[in-house]
Amino acid sequence: MVFHKVISSYNAILNLNVNGRNEFVNGIKYSIVTFSNWNTYLCSLKIDCIMISTSNLSLQYGKRVLFDEVNIKFTQGNCYGVIGANGAGKSTFLKILAGDIDPTSGQVIFEPGKRMSVLRQDHHAFDEFTVLQTVIKGNEKLWKVMQEKDAIYAKPDFSEEDGMKASELEAEFAEMDGWNAEADAAALLSGLGIAEADHDKLLKDLEGSQKVRILLAQALFGNPDLLILDEPTNDLDLKTITWLEDFLLDFKNTVIVVSHDRHFLDTVCTHIADIDFSKIKLFSGNYTFWYESSQLALRQRASANKKAEDKKKELQEFIARFSANASKSKQATSRKKILDKINIDEIQPSSRKYPAIIFDQARQAGDQILHINDMSYVHEGETLFKDLNLNVMRGDKIAVIADNHLAVSMLFEILNDRVQPTTGDFKFGQTITTSYLPSDNTEYFQTDYNLIDWLRQYAEGDDVDEVYIRGFLGKMLFTGEETFKKASVLSGGEKVRCMVSRMMLKEANFLMLDEPTNHLDLESITAFNNSLKDFTGTIMFSSHDHTFTQTIATRILELTPNGCIDRTTTYDDYINSNKVAEMKAALV
Ligand SMILES: Nc1ncnc2c1ncn2[C@@H]1O[C@H](COP(=O)(O)OP(=O)(O)OP(=O)(O)O)[C@@H](O)[C@H]1O
Ligand SMILES: [Mg+2]
Repeated sequence: MVFHKVISSYNAILNLNVNGRNEFVNGIKYSIVTFSNWNTYLCSLKIDCIMISTSNLSLQYGKRVLFDEVNIKFTQGNCYGVIGANGAGKSTFLKILAGDIDPTSGQVIFEPGKRMSVLRQDHHAFDEFTVLQTVIKGNEKLWKVMQEKDAIYAKPDFSEEDGMKASELEAEFAEMDGWNAEADAAALLSGLGIAEADHDKLLKDLEGSQKVRILLAQALFGNPDLLILDEPTNDLDLKTITWLEDFLLDFKNTVIVVSHDRHFLDTVCTHIADIDFSKIKLFSGNYTFWYESSQLALRQRASANKKAEDKKKELQEFIARFSANASKSKQATSRKKILDKINIDEIQPSSRKYPAIIFDQARQAGDQILHINDMSYVHEGETLFKDLNLNVMRGDKIAVIADNHLAVSMLFEILNDRVQPTTGDFKFGQTITTSYLPSDNTEYFQTDYNLIDWLRQYAEGDDVDEVYIRGFLGKMLFTGEETFKKASVLSGGEKVRCMVSRMMLKEANFLMLDEPTNHLDLESITAFNNSLKDFTGTIMFSSHDHTFTQTIATRILELTPNGCIDRTTTYDDYINSNKVAEMKAALV
């Protein structure tokens, strides 16, 4: 096979009719041979090759068209951030790529012989496996070979045939670097902060945040060719998020990741795939670049008279500014290509909407709000917090923080009478009415109710007007047909929006919110943020979102296993305070 000229563009090849004969393109003669695997060949030529793509992919639920004839290609070596409003179809799209859901029409084309790995969301699927086993199961082929091998060696009567099979399996095992599997898995786990002492424990004996990190290690294990992650940062602490960012920056293969975390997207993504208007559009660059360019597109479109040259100049300046900021090599290279590729007319103003979050209070609180006395909580032998004494004042907006988030969640569970404290007690004032947004809302959605009946459960009185219920759902952007869908099929962010409707309905004067921004899109976070800033009642909350905490909190409560720190201050002042640093040092 001889190429008369090195093909420099994948498109040039795609335009050819490939079937083993000579073709002329732009006057150049190509001797064409049929390749069983074009991508492999193109990769060897270092030409962009496609890892996974969709062809005329459509999906419809009832009347709602989630995807309409989507054609998209994800190229080898890039990191794609999938963005879109809550309910736009991000998780559904990933499930289609992974083969978990069939599209209504169209197809997914995945490069044959490559390995895809998916961050699983089901936290209980591996309960009966040890931590190390769970991680190794990330490479299913290797795991299968290990199982078959063990089964043969465990036989009491080892036949010649068994011997042959065993040696075949041994060869396969060695080829997959099986001898290093445990060491590799252990190294990944250590990077994610799972202590070696826990590696042989069963998953069911570990707590939620550890399970998330183990499932992440499972997805990352064995260097998959394509890594698919749905909101991986949600239940991770800051340290682990940074670890994951570094891991993905070094990762040479293809990543498709859904996230609402701006900082994370900016750090790891080389491209953005925006789901809007039932289509998916690809943009080079990171999240901020996409956001700023779509804002620019909006402005340029608004001023229709702006001359073409002016437009171009503004665009060039904009791109130059971004290129100058490029710190990561992956992003720097991809930005170089941007000027050629960007087409401002392609960027459509977004269809995203802001929900109307308004917390009214049925009655004002009196002077007594909440007293906590000498409270401690011990979880499976480990003290999560102790010596907690707190006198909450009306209008306090308290951010509760802890190195171990379980401490915060348990305090909220105790204050909502769902868990007993190990020692101490608490008392709410007579006039206090509370409402609670737990961080895990799974149990609320294991039901066959549609959205109207779901919310009606939480309204006062049996005979509640449907219009009244619809009003609350409408504020949370559920209108028309949407209100008849089952609560169980809602997306992560939609579930949180329903839980917020439930809270609004209660008109309480004391709100407790455990990680309210998890799962929410930026529009919902902004609306939530503003409503809590304006709320005149009392709030206790926790959030990994720095801006959210900084703009709401007037008081910070830090829980530690050796005692608690309570300061009336903003979050930034708290983390930068020398006095607080001294107090923390005294608690170690
Ligand atoms: N079986 C189903 N029947 C009807 N509608 C469904 C079904 N499954 C999912 N949906 C709807 O499809 C839409 C897309 O859901 P998906 O979980 O993909 O959203 P998402 O973009 O991941 O949102 P989030 O940011 O909140 O995670 C949602 O409106 C959801 O309610
Ligand atoms: Mg989702």
